[in-house]
Amino acid sequence: MVEKVIGSQLLQSTPREVRSSIYKINPIILNRWSPRSMTDEKLSYEELMSLFEAARWAPSSGNSQPWRFIYATRDTEEWNTLFNLLVDFNKIWAKNAAVLIVIVSKKEFEYNGKVIPSVTHQFDTGAAWENLALEATSRGLVVHGIAGFDYGRTRKDLDIPDSFDIIAMVAIGKRGGKDMLPSKFQEMEKPSDRKPLEQMVMKGRFKEKSG
Ligand SMILES: Cc1cc2nc3c(=O)[nH]c(=O)nc-3n(C[C@H](O)[C@H](O)[C@H](O)COP(=O)(O)O)c2cc1C
Repeated sequence: MVEKVIGSQLLQSTPREVRSSIYKINPIILNRWSPRSMTDEKLSYEELMSLFEAARWAPSSGNSQPWRFIYATRDTEEWNTLFNLLVDFNKIWAKNAAVLIVIVSKKEFEYNGKVIPSVTHQFDTGAAWENLALEATSRGLVVHGIAGFDYGRTRKDLDIPDSFDIIAMVAIGKRGGKDMLPSKFQEMEKPSDRKPLEQMVMKGRFKEKSG
């Protein structure tokens, strides 16, 4: 792994220098990854809203837009509420994030004047999260998805109605040096690889390949 010093901080090389795709794709896709090291710098309100704006333009079934984002910025009362939902493992690194977000998704939508269950609401909300992640990546920010938190307490503490599924949390912040993490996290601070295309793409009918 190539490492370089930017300012006073030791940063890893960009993922694109480490990851490679077999077929040609937009570099932003390889550059999005999930670092854990963040400085405790804040994001401006405009920058944060730009990330939500990117999410807002995601496609969804019937344009139902089921995604909702509950956010908290550092050093606020809401921050403590969201931060305390995290499991200890995630608290260790997410404490330096600028923003925490809980993403929830509406389970039903109105179609032809009728309220019906949405089969695709989680898929739609996943598209919105990826829009947000790519926008953040293009701005050089860290954006890290989180499933390690207390889903039951989240519903209660944040007053989330049963008509919404709680999908995930996200930590966002300014990229910090790897040396700011405890040593066991430093080892994990590198872009991951992916299964080969042949294990996920099937022509014509389902055929399981090992992996
Ligand atoms: C929905 C979701 C939940 C995740 N939960 C956690 C988590 O609780 N803690 C953590 O450290 N990383 C978490 N991750 C990060 C994943 O481990 C990471 O995205 C995956 O290993 C792929 O690596 P990459 O994002 O660097 O490409 C989560 C990612 C997603 C999308």
